Amino acid sequence: MGASGSGKTSMRSLIFSNNPASLTARLGATIDVEQNHVRFLGDLILNLWDCGGQDAFMDSYLTTQRSTIFQHVGVLIYVFDVETSEMHKDLEYYRDCLDGLRQFSPDAAVFLLVHKMDLARERGATFERKKRELLGQSEKHADVTVFGTSIYDESLYRAWSSIVHTLIPNAAVLSKHLTIFADACSATEVILFERTTFLVIATSSPPSSASSSSSTPSPSPSPSTPSSSSSPEANAFQELEATRYERTSELIKAFKHSCSRVREEFHSLEMELPEFSAVLDEMTKNTYVLIIVHDPTIETAALKLNIRMARRKFE
Ligand code: GTP
Repeated sequence: MGASGSGKTSMRSLIFSNNPASLTARLGATIDVEQNHVRFLGDLILNLWDCGGQDAFMDSYLTTQRSTIFQHVGVLIYVFDVETSEMHKDLEYYRDCLDGLRQFSPDAAVFLLVHKMDLARERGATFERKKRELLGQSEKHADVTVFGTSIYDESLYRAWSSIVHTLIPNAAVLSKHLTIFADACSATEVILFERTTFLVIATSSPPSSASSSSSTPSPSPSPSTPSSSSSPEANAFQELEATRYERTSELIKAFKHSCSRVREEFHSLEMELPEFSAVLDEMTKNTYVLIIVHDPTIETAALKLNIRMARRKFE
């Protein structure tokens, strides 16, 4: 949900239809509700409702269509244009939507996207101000998360990975299996992506800080903790960039798009650099796995073999 022109259909076309940001300017206004069924992971189907934001439609969602729109909602994503001159009206509609949600889907999570952040001056300060304002309007709803997003950088993937993560019922189990798999590969990190969207589904836990590897992960080390007795994997983990997941999603999506332009299909990727090696390959029908290794003695062929051996377990 969100005002007309705030960018809802654009983000949907980027994440779920693999269209580039440059084509979004051609999108017309959404008439009423456009429903999409995205087969996400095996049997998990994401039922996405893109609700056109013109006032007449919004008024109808809140009155005659109220029970249809707000029933069985897993997640409400409300998009705010950071540059809007009609914030007052936006907030009024947003509060009315929260009322609808409270009435029909009180357990739904709420994600607020302060969108088109590429247009904002002083991004950090603007985002903090908007976030405070939005949280102030959401007081009665406990589960509200705010993200700053733009279709022109990786921030959109960060927000959507987080949204989708809340909808995956067995995310914790997946993460546990990935940790065991990472340990078996002596990997610094293992990340599972959904195949079409390349959103992050789950990641392994940070490597144990003990020098010998263990299959029971220790709690996440804080990135700033000094680590004199840490394992090499744990040390390498602490050096990793915080935005690495969403940047990978964005880069691979762009690469897949380039592949499709020359009528090639993307299958897998291998990198062997002096500092680290990485393998990105199909894990299951619906997922890709990325393994990052900082141990120079480990061959990428061994990682690929491990992926092949683990496939059945993850299918
Ligand atoms: P309705 O269908 O009327 O509800 O609008 P909508 O919210 O679906 O808006 P839409 O996705 O059609 O986007 C409107 C315009 O915003 C398009 O021209 C997009 O190119 C532009 N846009 C979307 N996202 C961004 C962004 O992150 N940054 C900038 N600068 N422009 C964006």
